Order: sequence, then structure tokens, then C-alpha cells
Amino acid sequence: MTDEKQPEKPEEQKQPASESQPKPSEETKPVTPAPAAKPAVSSAAQKTSPPQQPGVSRRKFISWFAIGWIGFSAAMAGFLTSVLRFFFPNVLFEPPMTFKAGIPSEFQIGQVDERFKNKFGVWMVRSPEGIYALSTVCTHLGCTPTWLPGEEKFKCPCHGSGFYKTGINFEGPAPRPLERYRISLADDGQVLVDKGKIYQQEKGEWKDPQSILKV
Ligand code: FES
Repeated sequence: MTDEKQPEKPEEQKQPASESQPKPSEETKPVTPAPAAKPAVSSAAQKTSPPQQPGVSRRKFISWFAIGWIGFSAAMAGFLTSVLRFFFPNVLFEPPMTFKAGIPSEFQIGQVDERFKNKFGVWMVRSPEGIYALSTVCTHLGCTPTWLPGEEKFKCPCHGSGFYKTGINFEGPAPRPLERYRISLADDGQVLVDKGKIYQQEKGEWKDPQSILKV
């Protein structure tokens, strides 16, 4: 038996770790994707496309142009409006100061007629003494009272003043009675009311024969 020992091979020289490891610059280098292929642009398009301006783009230019045009139009509209207002000054159309209220027999004794309230600001009232035209303006601060037939009084919604059918104030802050207007009979037999002349009870003017139409 030959038990020859094989001569041990000399151990391969171990390489230092730094040499056996792959250099980061060689293997760990990140792989960058290849840039996407640019769409092919025809040479003709390249020729016709305008060169990019470094300053204001076309879209911005159009926006500024539109804003400028709108501003110019608004200024012109304002100018034209002032010119028109110069040629057509403000005219206040007020209801006429006099109006005909119909014939006396249309008014019933004891009733308050509200037909002329909205248009002329007048209540027509007939009492046993005659017909009188009562103002619908509250003597406190000028609100329009409401006629309450059930309570036989005018009630102001603003601060609660109350007036009798005669116009005399009896509750709330109103300092004096409602005013009356001149009333007469027109040539055609109709009741004529003239708001150009008022009669105030506190001044004793309700005694004036033109403050009430005796019919
Ligand atoms: S305005 Fe009529 S009570 Fe004040």
C-alpha cells in the first residue's frame, strides 16, 4: 500500500477583500434609462416653426391684448354714458299735484277710500261733515301707515304711531296729526284734490273751508 501523501498544494494566496470585491465604479454604477426617442420632426416642420422668443409668449401677448381691449371698451362706455347724461339730464317724474277723485256720491260716509293711496299718497275719507283728503305720510319719520278697518285707525308699521280716521294722532311717537290737502269740486262735478296746499290741524287750518268738501 502506498500511502503517499500528496504534497499539499500551497494555498492560493487570498486576495484582500478590497481587491476581490468589484469596484463600485464598475458594477454598482446606476443604469440610466436610455432617453426616449425624440419624435421625428420633419425637416419641413423644423423649417416652418417660428423660433422660440425668449420674452413674452404669444398666449401672454393675446391675454394682455384682450385685457387692454376690455379696459378700453369700458372707458369708452363710461365716456359715452356721461355724454348721454349731459344731453339727457335727470328728470324726476312725480305724480301730478292735482287729481280728480270721482264724483262725491262715490264716497260713503264713514269709509276710508284707498284707491289713491299708492298713486297719489292720499286717503279719501267721508265723514258726516264732508269729504277730506288725508296724507298717507306719517308725521313721525315719514313711513306709510296702514288703514285697519277693524280697529278704525291708521297704524304706522315703523314705530307704532296710531291715527284716528280724522287723522288725529293718539298713540306712538308721531308728534302731530296727519295732514290734509286742499279739496274742491271741479267744473265737471268731480272731486278735485290739490296736494300743493296742505292744512295742519295743530295750526287750526282744518277750519279752512278748502280743507274739507261739504257735500
Ligand atoms: S314713522 Fe310712523 S311711527 Fe315712526
